[in-house]
Amino acid sequence: MHRKKLIAGNHKMHTSLQEGLQLAKNIHQEAKTYAEQVDIVLFPPFTHTFAVSGVLKNTAFYTGGQNCASEAQGAFTGEVSAAMLKSAGATYVLVGHSERRALFAESNEMLSKKIEQAIQAQLHIIFCYGETLSQREDGTYLSILQEQLAPLKLLSPLHWEYITLAYEPVWAIGTGKTASAAQAQEIHLFSRNWIAETISAEIAAKTRILYGGSVKPENAGELLSQPDIDGALVGGASLDAESFSAIIKAAL
Ligand code: PGA
Repeated sequence: MHRKKLIAGNHKMHTSLQEGLQLAKNIHQEAKTYAEQVDIVLFPPFTHTFAVSGVLKNTAFYTGGQNCASEAQGAFTGEVSAAMLKSAGATYVLVGHSERRALFAESNEMLSKKIEQAIQAQLHIIFCYGETLSQREDGTYLSILQEQLAPLKLLSPLHWEYITLAYEPVWAIGTGKTASAAQAQEIHLFSRNWIAETISAEIAAKTRILYGGSVKPENAGELLSQPDIDGALVGGASLDAESFSAIIKAAL
């Protein structure tokens, strides 16, 4: 089964609007020749969504939101709904990033609602999961990962076309420590088997599973050559057009 690779840049809470637009333009300039072979998605902060998607309109690049609300609309001051993101030009949304889980106490119940909202808005979801260092060291990580994937069990098989997974070990995010290609491949295979057992073998074969956590031009090639690694979710290195393009190139 051929799965087109996907490289996503998560800009987190970085860049002014002007810097974010310039970054999107620079990335497009550097990487446009790769866009036919690789799906490329930028996740700027919410305030930049509309303008960045405007810059990327008529290109093969996609824009996404870093999060969305668990409700459709209403008195939820400060929240941004999936439908709002869609109307601002987003095609993708990140759900369950470890920073959201840890710093903003996002529970499985909340994540299930976010998934539902995103699907209703017809946004593609990059669903993130990953263990902490202590969970890896005490050997509980596989059951933790299963627990984190649990909200996806509720999905109708039809909706899996909206789902991409992103395995992001918390101990590798922003730390400069990457999982080795073998460590990552082990979890990606485990995750694909989980989908096969929980949903179906056909969906497991089709679903893209990205790796995230200190992906850089120097380690991208080895990670992306693993059979079950279908792309990367890149934080720090996506803020530099040259580094991010080099990672995209490594996915060809
Ligand atoms: P990093 O972030 O590449 O800076 O480790 C990855 C992420 O949080 O998505």
